[in-house]
Order: sequence, then C-alpha cells, then structure tokens
Amino acid sequence: MTRTPADEQELPGLAGVDLGELGPTGRPLRTFAEPPALSAHGPARVIALCNQKGGVGKTTSSINLGAALAEYGRRVLAIDFDPQGALSAGLGVPTHEAITIYDLLLSTAHDPSEAIQKTATPGLDVIPANIDLSAAEVHLVNEVAREQALARVLRKVSADYDVILIDCQPSLGILTVNALTASHGVLIPLECEYFALRGVALLIETIDKVRERLNPALELDGILATMYDARTLHSREVLERVVDAFGDKVLETVITRTVKFPDATVAATPITQFAPDHQAADSYRQLARELVFRGAVA
Ligand SMILES: Nc1ncnc2c1ncn2[C@@H]1O[C@H](COP(=O)(O)OP(=O)(O)OP(=O)(O)O)[C@@H](O)[C@H]1O
Ligand SMILES: [Mg+2]
Repeated sequence: MTRTPADEQELPGLAGVDLGELGPTGRPLRTFAEPPALSAHGPARVIALCNQKGGVGKTTSSINLGAALAEYGRRVLAIDFDPQGALSAGLGVPTHEAITIYDLLLSTAHDPSEAIQKTATPGLDVIPANIDLSAAEVHLVNEVAREQALARVLRKVSADYDVILIDCQPSLGILTVNALTASHGVLIPLECEYFALRGVALLIETIDKVRERLNPALELDGILATMYDARTLHSREVLERVVDAFGDKVLETVITRTVKFPDATVAATPITQFAPDHQAADSYRQLARELVFRGAVA
C-alpha cells in the first residue's frame, strides 16, 4: 500500500513522515530525524533491556543501541548485568581481574568510577560482569533493601551520562528486579518467532509489580521486534500478533535477522563500526532516533 500527500494532510500528527510503503508493524514507514546535539550531559535516563526468554537480542540491542546513541553524541554507559558477561565480551572489554558490577553491588569498597571501562566506541563506556555475578542472588538475599542495590550504584554515576542501558540476564530473579528498580524505562526485545509471546504476560506482570511496590515511575518504553525476516509469512504473522497485543508500545523500528550480528559479536565490535553501511547498523541508528523522538532518551 502506498500513501499519498493527501493522506499526510489527514494525519497532522505525522508531519515529517516519509510517505511510502507501510512498515513491518503496519504503520507508515518513516525516518526519524537526527537528534540535535546536546549542549550539556546528564543526569542519565536508565533503561533496562529485559526479557526472561533467552537469545532474543537483549545483549545485541544493548551494544548496538548504545553505540548508535554514542554516535549521536549521547554519553552512554552500558551495564553488563548477566553473569555470562556477553555484553562485556561483545564490547571487547576484559572481565578477568576487572572490577565488575558484582563488586559494586555487594560492597562499598570501590567507587563505581573504578569499574567503568572505555570501549572502542567513543562515548560508550561499560561496567563489566563475569561469572561472580551469579553469586549475587545468594548474597543479596540477606541485604537490607536488596532490590535497591543497583539503584544505589547507578545514582553515583548518573550525572556523567545521558543514558544508562542495563543488559539483563534471561530470568526474572532478584538481579532483574534490581534492574527494574533502578530504571526509568524498560525496553523488551522480542524475537519474531512462534513462542515469542509466551512469557511476556509474566514479564509485564513483574514490571507492574515493581512499579507498584518499588519504583512508581517505571515506564514501558517499548517492545522491540528483533530477528525479523520479511521473507517468511511466519515472521510477519508473529509481528502482527505482537502489534495486535501491544499496539503503539511496539516500536516502529524492527531489527531484521542477519548473520552480520553474530559476525560483529565475534569481532567484539558494535555493528555500527563492524559494518557501518549495512542495513543492520542503520536499523539500530533508527532505533536510537525513535527513542529520542519518543522521549525515552534525551
Ligand atoms: N537481528 C539478529 N539477526 C541474527 N542474529 C542475531 C540478531 N540479534 C541477535 N542475534 C544473535 O542471536 C544470539 C542471541 O542474541 P543476544 O545474545 O543478543 O540475545 P540475549 O537476549 O542477550 O540472549 P541471553 O538471554 O542469552 O542473554 C547471538 O548469537 C546474536 O549474535
Ligand atoms: Mg544477553
């Protein structure tokens, strides 16, 4: 279906839309404007990338959204909050004998600035994690205000960044509750695959509970469809069901399935640098612009 200029006049809210094909989410395809440069930085808006289902693109999205936002001049801190340390590995930072998020969570001996590492992408820093973090669940159980441990850490670094992205592990345990408690917004990456919606109700319920009991300001920033393959009816059907279920919460930006992502992971480089001209790099730039447009990022 092609849209005409007459349609645009009927849709004043969509000024600036690129008229043309409908996008994969059934809305007009549009290019979000490049965000203006920021004249000052911080305090950060904190966004958790969260889905208890494994392998849906949480880490890939944390890395590449972070890199794309950094390209637009945003100061970004990525928090590896998964004991597997995939975010740290994907950004090429050492985790062995490094000060990690685990050290910051469970003791006040270190200042968070000691744990922050620069990445090869200017403007994108990371606090790494390693397998030590798997012990945090056990240790946090006996802490006072155990759900606020990460929030206490992030408060100390918030002033230096525009956005903090938390790459959650695939579970709804105490670490994820910590991430949701420390966040202003949640981004849910959702793989365009048959069982994608399974478990999302439980995730939304968890977000609602955290909002009710621990973090009244917590917002659902959006649902990000990942690993979309326009050639398969299956992918298109799944996305249609996701849009039926969540409407405008589904981001217009959709991430296509391409082998460039695993390749970039192996190279420990964001896609925006590994294959800067590839459509996959552009899709994360588009995501960055959409989140600025929606007010989720400064
Ligand atoms: N759009 C994509 N197209 C193809 N492969 C992808 C895409 N996004 C991610 N991948 C690959 O899929 C795998 C899982 O992605 P990723 O690690 O980002 O998911 P995750 O949700 O963080 O997983 P986990 O729950 O284990 O932490 C990785 O090998 C990654 O390179
Ligand atoms: Mg991951």
